[in-house]
Parts: sequence; structure tokens; C-alpha cells
Amino acid sequence: MQLHLDEQRGLSQLLEDYLGQWEDRTGIAVEVWALPGRNVPSQVAEVVLSTVREALDNVERHSKARTVSVAVTAGARGLRLTISDDGVGFPLETEGRGLRVMKAGLANISGILQINSVLGGGTTVSAVAPLG
Ligand SMILES: Nc1ncnc2c1ncn2[C@@H]1O[C@H](COP(=O)(O)OP(=O)(O)O)[C@@H](O)[C@H]1O
Ligand SMILES: [Mg+2]
Repeated sequence: MQLHLDEQRGLSQLLEDYLGQWEDRTGIAVEVWALPGRNVPSQVAEVVLSTVREALDNVERHSKARTVSVAVTAGARGLRLTISDDGVGFPLETEGRGLRVMKAGLANISGILQINSVLGGGTTVSAVAPLG
């Protein structure tokens, strides 16, 4: 499915559609806790979309999770993104291109991305992006 911003559909609508289709295709349940209620600058929205895509790709390919929860909230300090799965987890020293690209995408817009993972306890990707 296409996951690009366009004039007609805002970030929340795109995410809602994408997450629904991803859930149907993978059989991994998606719990959407929050989506941004207001407009997000397109540069930030693009980074959010690519981060969600890579994080969910990792959930699908590596985690063996049954459920993943997603929250995107726009607050005074910026946009906060959390993607948390209940899968197998991985050692924190693990590196890879996908993880690097996610971090670089956030750094590029003066944001930050952190990954926390517990072996046997799942993985949480957290990001904060300033809204300018
Ligand atoms: N949600 C996750 N659950 C379990 N393992 C993960 C998860 N995300 C990443 N990993 C581990 O981190 C490694 C590096 O991820 P990444 O940089 O995206 O590279 P790739 O997905 O191409 O292997 C993966 O190969 C996997 O071992
Ligand atoms: Mg990956």
C-alpha cells in the first residue's frame, strides 16, 4: 500500500488505513492508542511514516509478536511516537541498517529515537520530533 502524504489525506487517516491493512495482512493485532488530532508539518509526517513502516517491518519479520501498540500524539513539546510489541526482543547492542535509518530520520529533523528491548519481553521504539 502507498504510504505517502498527499493533499487529501492527513497523517492520521494515512496511519489508520496503513495500520488496518498491515494488521489484516500479518495477522498481528494492532492496538492504536492515539493518532494526532491536528495537522503535522509534512516534513515531520514523512519521517513518522517511514519510522512506522520500518518499525512494523521489524515487528513482522523478527518479533514473533501477537500484538503491537501504536501511539502518535502531538503535544507542546513535539510529536511523540511509540511502537511497542510483545515479541521476543533482541540485545540492545544489535545494529542494522533499518535501525540506523530510523535514528537518522529523526536526527535529521532534530528529533530523537530510542529503542528499548527486553529479551523475551518485547521491543519499544520511542521517538520525539519537534514540531518547529
Ligand atoms: N521488533 C523487533 N523484535 C525483535 N527483533 C528485532 C526487532 N527489531 C529489530 N530486531 C532485531 O534487530 C536487527 C536489526 O534490525 P534492522 O536494523 O531493522 O535490520 P533488518 O530488519 O534488515 O535485519 C534485526 O535483524 C533483528 O534481529
Ligand atoms: Mg529492519
